[in-house]
Amino acid sequence: MINSLSEFKVTSAQAKENPDTFWSEIASEFQWKSPWKQTLDFDFSKPEIKWFVGGKLNITENCLDRYIETQPNKTAILFEPNDPTETAQHISYKKLHKRVCQTANMLKANGAKKGDRICIYMPMVPELAIAVLACARIGAIHSVVFAGFSATALAARINDASCSMLLTADGGFRGSKTIALKEIADEALVSCSTVNCCLVLQRTQQEVQWNSTDKWWHEELEKVDDNCPVEVMDSEDPLFILYTSGSTGKPKGMVHTCGGYMVYTAYTFKNVFQCQPNDVYWCTADIGWITGHSYIVYGPLANGATSVMFEGVPSYPAFDRFWEVCAKHKITHFYTAPTAIRALEKHPTSLVEKHDLSSLKVLGSVGEPINAEAWHWYDEHVGKHNCPIVDTWWQTETGGILISSLAGVTPQKPTFATLPMPGVQAVLLNNEGDEIEGEGEGILAIKHPWPSIARTIWGDYERYKNVYFSAYPGYYFPGDGALRDAEGNYRITGRVDDVVIVSGHNLGTAPIENAINEHSEVVESAVVGFPHDIKGNALCAYVIVRDMGVDSSTIEKEIREEVAKTIGPIAKPDRILVVSGLPKTRSGKIMRRILRKLAAGEHDQLGDISTLLNPEIVEEIKRQNS
Ligand code: WTA
Repeated sequence: MINSLSEFKVTSAQAKENPDTFWSEIASEFQWKSPWKQTLDFDFSKPEIKWFVGGKLNITENCLDRYIETQPNKTAILFEPNDPTETAQHISYKKLHKRVCQTANMLKANGAKKGDRICIYMPMVPELAIAVLACARIGAIHSVVFAGFSATALAARINDASCSMLLTADGGFRGSKTIALKEIADEALVSCSTVNCCLVLQRTQQEVQWNSTDKWWHEELEKVDDNCPVEVMDSEDPLFILYTSGSTGKPKGMVHTCGGYMVYTAYTFKNVFQCQPNDVYWCTADIGWITGHSYIVYGPLANGATSVMFEGVPSYPAFDRFWEVCAKHKITHFYTAPTAIRALEKHPTSLVEKHDLSSLKVLGSVGEPINAEAWHWYDEHVGKHNCPIVDTWWQTETGGILISSLAGVTPQKPTFATLPMPGVQAVLLNNEGDEIEGEGEGILAIKHPWPSIARTIWGDYERYKNVYFSAYPGYYFPGDGALRDAEGNYRITGRVDDVVIVSGHNLGTAPIENAINEHSEVVESAVVGFPHDIKGNALCAYVIVRDMGVDSSTIEKEIREEVAKTIGPIAKPDRILVVSGLPKTRSGKIMRRILRKLAAGEHDQLGDISTLLNPEIVEEIKRQNS
């Protein structure tokens, strides 16, 4: 673990100088079935990236087996249920190991084998983490789909990866609601011919419909024992697929591999959070997102930490739930999203103050830029000016944190993610693709691979190449803009493509437009993001309809339903404007830049609109807006 700023500087310099030696030393702290022959083999121009080439391992051996000798009774997963009156579960390393092995055997008994894709559509209960690890143990590739996605979105993801199995639950608790997961899964499976087994966990005990491929999880589990040797995996074998939104078309199934992902998530967890043996670490994300994969499951467990899993929401039963849970479990590390902070900031600070937060040592932020107001509120009311805040910048594609301060070790700067992790060579590029030296603002890019960079998009290598490696040859292009101060600290300014981050969720505008266009009355639509107090960004849809005389409130309602059905409720636009046209260039391209300004109410900052094909439409939209 890096303990001081000077050590950080030396380490970063060494990692830059000789990345192979640097990562090789870190990787040798893990258990390998057989060592790698070459640390890194890469060519960004192809692109082709391989880490720890020829090495053999199983990530679960590193997360579980090695700790059942040294700390069998330490809590690995601490589960806090949605309902505060339901008892929390402390699952020790020994117990977790047993449950993972038994679940792995259940998967095998139902036909799963190495290389198969298994879709997991589950609530935030321990069995979700266990299922993920069980897949990894037998070498099946897990594809977790966030339980807030609709049946259509679930089916698209199952079909994209030709999953042979679906793991789900009867339902899930979320605040005062229950979500009928099995019902949604049933609807999805109608169009998924590759799935031949659906294992159903009992969580809510609600009634469910039963199909020929369905089996109860608890019944299947009883049939198998808990002895399950690990499947030996190659470093470069896929560990999982996780879908993220792109600026066009269908979601991208990012593929992460066993060796590099393990080394990098474990290394960054250790150094960013600086967890000590008795600490209790809580990341509030859902395992359906990359943050949950890397920093609830793999990173913490690979370090033998105690990782809290929370089933509920920050507002249930009241807006002090996070603080209540912090006090209850004496949380030392609290890692959440700016959107949650902004939402909680709107409530009286007495809700925070009524709980004893003295156990807190480190706070974290992830998912979108944290604005100054939220940063200071977090620092003052939650951290009591006593807890370093790590603002961690990274992506589904990067697998782990690329830019962040190390808690209490390197300096923090409000609203800045600060410095790249050792081994991460970040640069700023201008529009021509030249590197900017010193202070400046531009496009963020990474010059050299780190071990957990996604290796491809499942089934679409060409798209992987085009999206991430073609815009600026020789670099990985994350799609974010950034500025850099004189000390080299980075501040992420936001996306430079058509992805909008709403409440920390990446949403591509193209699939939302496609969903809106499904409505029989809609001729064309354009969706853009605009700034929102709590969500960070919200969505505004401009819609052209066939008959401008129609009742727009009905259309708006139907459009929202269509989006919820096709993608999920998180993608519903906040504002829908029925317009008679969209501002277009002479070549017919929609001018999103203008639509973004209009949605943000920046009517006087539109720039030159005289080159538009239809400048009059801008006036019309302005009138509607005001
Ligand atoms: C944004 C989440 C500013 C960024 C881990 C990135 C951030 C996208 C930060 C990836 C941060 C994430 N500061 N922006 N600390 N963290 N982002 O794939 O635009 O869900 O490209 O991964 O979130 O979102 P994803």
